[in-house]
Amino acid sequence: MSVYLYRLVAAACVALGLTSLTTAAASASALTERGKYLVIVAGCSDCHTPGSLLGKPDMTKFLGGSDVAFAIPGLGEFPGRNLTPDKETGLGNWTSQQIITAFTTGVRPDGRILAPIMPWQALAKLTSYDKRAIAAYLKSLKPVKNAVPGPFGPSEKPTTFVMTVVPGEVYASMPKPGGLPAK
Ligand code: HEC
Repeated sequence: MSVYLYRLVAAACVALGLTSLTTAAASASALTERGKYLVIVAGCSDCHTPGSLLGKPDMTKFLGGSDVAFAIPGLGEFPGRNLTPDKETGLGNWTSQQIITAFTTGVRPDGRILAPIMPWQALAKLTSYDKRAIAAYLKSLKPVKNAVPGPFGPSEKPTTFVMTVVPGEVYASMPKPGGLPAK
């Protein structure tokens, strides 16, 4: 091989190597972008960002855990947890697969089954690309340090707000949102 030809082949190899690196980076960012899109349209923020269920989402703590727990009769009260990669209070120590298993089968790494208000039965229907996309996006988030309390057992006193379902007559006798007295 002439020196000239050798150089040409070497240059072509470098160019190809760079192209595949750039392609890998582009597909990783396409995966994360897809995850962002899915997280927005699936409404994860409603139940996982503080303030969302109170009408004022605190976007500085996006997906950093809710301040409102859902009361599930007989089970207890369950606040949406911190989904950011903070190691102490979020999912920082979970692998992508553990995150996917939790939001598609309801099983956490410690074996606890998530309360049914977390829509894992619906999310189980996602394609495997979309599942990976959501996990990749959650892992790319800014870590938010926010220890969400609970979940609270049926006999515990919740320390968060509670969203509950009551019969109409019970609701009518309750103080109204905003502190207005019941009519
Ligand atoms: C209707 C409210 C609601 C929506 C919408 C929702 N979640 Fe949840 N999610 C919850 C609640 C409540 C829990 C905690 C349940 C429990 O502790 O048993 C939870 C738990 C989780 C967990 C387990 C975290 C942990 O630390 O145990 C993951 C992961 C998760 N949700 C991901 C998602 C993703 C991703 C989306 C959107 C695609 C989403 N959730 C949408 C309410 C919701």
